[in-house]
Amino acid sequence: MKLAFIGYGNVGRSLHRLIRARRREFPFTVTGIHTLRHGTAIDCGGIGAEPAFGPRAASIEEFLDGTKAQIAVELTTLNPSDGQPAVAHIRAAFVRKMHVATANKGPLAHAYAELRDDAARAGVGFRFESAVMDGAPVFNLWRPTLPGVKVLGFTGVLNSTTKVVIETMERGGSFEDGLARARQMGVTEADGAFDVEGWDSAAKTAALANVLMDARTTPQQVSTRGIGRLTPERMREINGEGKTVRLVSRARRNGSGLTLRVRAEVLERDDLLACTPGTSNLLLFHTDLMGTFGTVSIEPGVEQTAYGVFSDIVNLSRGNL
Ligand SMILES: NC(=O)c1ccc[n+]([C@@H]2O[C@H](COP(=O)([O-])OP(=O)(O)OC[C@H]3O[C@@H](n4cnc5c(N)ncnc54)[C@H](OP(=O)(O)O)[C@@H]3O)[C@@H](O)[C@H]2O)c1
Repeated sequence: MKLAFIGYGNVGRSLHRLIRARRREFPFTVTGIHTLRHGTAIDCGGIGAEPAFGPRAASIEEFLDGTKAQIAVELTTLNPSDGQPAVAHIRAAFVRKMHVATANKGPLAHAYAELRDDAARAGVGFRFESAVMDGAPVFNLWRPTLPGVKVLGFTGVLNSTTKVVIETMERGGSFEDGLARARQMGVTEADGAFDVEGWDSAAKTAALANVLMDARTTPQQVSTRGIGRLTPERMREINGEGKTVRLVSRARRNGSGLTLRVRAEVLERDDLLACTPGTSNLLLFHTDLMGTFGTVSIEPGVEQTAYGVFSDIVNLSRGNL
């Protein structure tokens, strides 16, 4: 099966390594890579470890047509304000009857219902396991495992960068030291402000609500406050009281609709939500038939994000749309 990569940054390169490593068992071939500044590479025989980039294709349509791929893999930078150009990339793939796998939460946060319907009309698959909580099963849990269960809400600690910043300040470092460390780990969005101001969490909250609760919302409709006002001094005070801080996403269905919120919350150290060191993530689902249960991912890295996209590609290649 042939794959067209749109975006070749941390996740794209890690996924390409994984695909090459597991080639015997899963015979996927990357026939095209399209980027913003590095240009475009197309080789229908398969692109190797060192892609030879030429001039950038004039349009996403020209690129996708050139790759002859069956699956488009959308791995461009998050744009939390409108999800573009990723939404347009995905639509262009559907028009060409290509399946899509993406780790980009922007399209889910802004246009999930339309994209799901476009995919269904085109008879192709649309999968996005890594968009929230890297490769840990979040979206894939629901389809085969929990038929008939309704999501009433969720609570999550979903942003790694803010945790790294908080932990750095707890150890006596500055806010900027923490951000630099998170960037070094490859977990920060291209614009780190998206993480610390809460936009990444708002996009994840909107994406989860759209997919699991048919919310038809956007990140702008999530009431959001980030960790920008935290200082090392304030963190020391909070620590002194035996507490810590996490950026928490909460969704609740109530009589009049849905409440979506992202806040830096002061938590007891032994609170379940606080037990998430480093890049670890935790998500609790509140449901009608299954009560509250959750999924946790301990210190995931970019390899786990790549794996989530890999699992999507495997599922699509097996006809699990
Ligand atoms: N990193 C993680 O651990 C992680 C975890 C979960 C989800 N994600 C999501 O996965 C996606 C990729 O993340 P990343 O860390 O790989 O990002 P990244 O390292 O910043 O790479 C982004 C890639 O997208 C390309 N790009 C940007 N705009 C483009 C456009 N208009 N057309 C074509 N290519 C474009 C860039 O091209 P150039 O190389 O030429 O600049 C680059 O190759 C993001 O949406 C992110 O939110 C990442």
